[in-house]
Amino acid sequence: MQSIRTVSIIGTGSYVPEKVLTNHDLEKIVDTTDEWIHSRTGMRERHIASPDQATSDLGTEAAKVALIDAGIDAEELDLIIVATLSPDMFFPSTACFVQDKIGAKNAFCYDLGAACSGFLFALDAAKNQIACGAVKTALVIGAEKMSTFIDWKDRGTCILFGDGAGAAVLQAGGEGRGIMQSVMGSDGSLADLLWTPGGGSRNPISHEMIDQGMQYLKMKGRDVFKYAVNRMTESVIQALEKNEVSVDEIKCFIPHQANIRIIDAIAKRLNIADRIYTNVEKYANTSSAALAMALDEAAKDGTLKKGDLVAMTVFGGGFTWGANVLEWSKS
Ligand code: UT7
Repeated sequence: MQSIRTVSIIGTGSYVPEKVLTNHDLEKIVDTTDEWIHSRTGMRERHIASPDQATSDLGTEAAKVALIDAGIDAEELDLIIVATLSPDMFFPSTACFVQDKIGAKNAFCYDLGAACSGFLFALDAAKNQIACGAVKTALVIGAEKMSTFIDWKDRGTCILFGDGAGAAVLQAGGEGRGIMQSVMGSDGSLADLLWTPGGGSRNPISHEMIDQGMQYLKMKGRDVFKYAVNRMTESVIQALEKNEVSVDEIKCFIPHQANIRIIDAIAKRLNIADRIYTNVEKYANTSSAALAMALDEAAKDGTLKKGDLVAMTVFGGGFTWGANVLEWSKS
């Protein structure tokens, strides 16, 4: 097997469901205000999937756009990874459903669970499988239907999340350095600060479990906030060192879109406020879709230019976190 050094993103796509839920709409559901939500999170609105849309449907729409952008046929895909914490069902994987919907009959498929960090972890996994020569072309998707397991009575969490999907097509080769080395970490001892405790094998589905609301996402927001700022800042620094790139060389920083105050704190610590990309105002926190959607948007709105060095960073339940650097090679 030949070892291939460069792996590039050759196409991106994203999708959000039609229905928009604004902060003013949320004022009618829970005891909150547009002012509170916007000043504490930077969010104005989020998109919510329709009852007949599952996560794979969102991922499929993003994938179709990414394939067109890449100029390749679905049958050319060797691998599909879907990063998600809201799969269609426990099994088969959401990636298998996407495969069927887009007709990628030559791809092997699996889901990756790293909560909000999932897209960066999946990008790294796919990149390495291509770099070692095992596969040539991969589709990496971050897709979430967060609205299904949000407690719409809990104002501390229901205002924060949205539904959506983003996708990237990766291929061996390309000009420049492509996707470089990632830095990733996890700390399972902090799992209970951000989790959905019910519905799995620990707390299986039962009337009792449902009565206790364990099927909903739970978060200790202030603790998560502190760890998110520290871990994302540290991992960007580590990823820059690992790839021998200076902070000044980075043209665009794309962080996980969880809260504008988290993003601002990272920007301040790294002195990168002029180069940080954010769309949290429009989509809220779409977990593993957020980075993928922001990358696609930055690519399409002209922020990313061929040859630009881009740094990305994520943080999520687990805890999980990471950062990487890539050279954008599309014109
Ligand atoms: O994607 C994974 C990573 N997730 C994150 O990174 C999220 C991290 N955490 C956060 O973004 C923030 O902690 C939140 C946005 C969740 C909360 O902001 P905060 O500034 O940390 O507020 P808080 O939780 O400390 O709450 C402050 C006050 C409380 O009232 P008291 O106890 O001071 O009277 C809350 O009850 O704000 C109240 N509050 C609300 N008020 C109006 C909490 N949620 C709301 C709300 N509307 N929606």
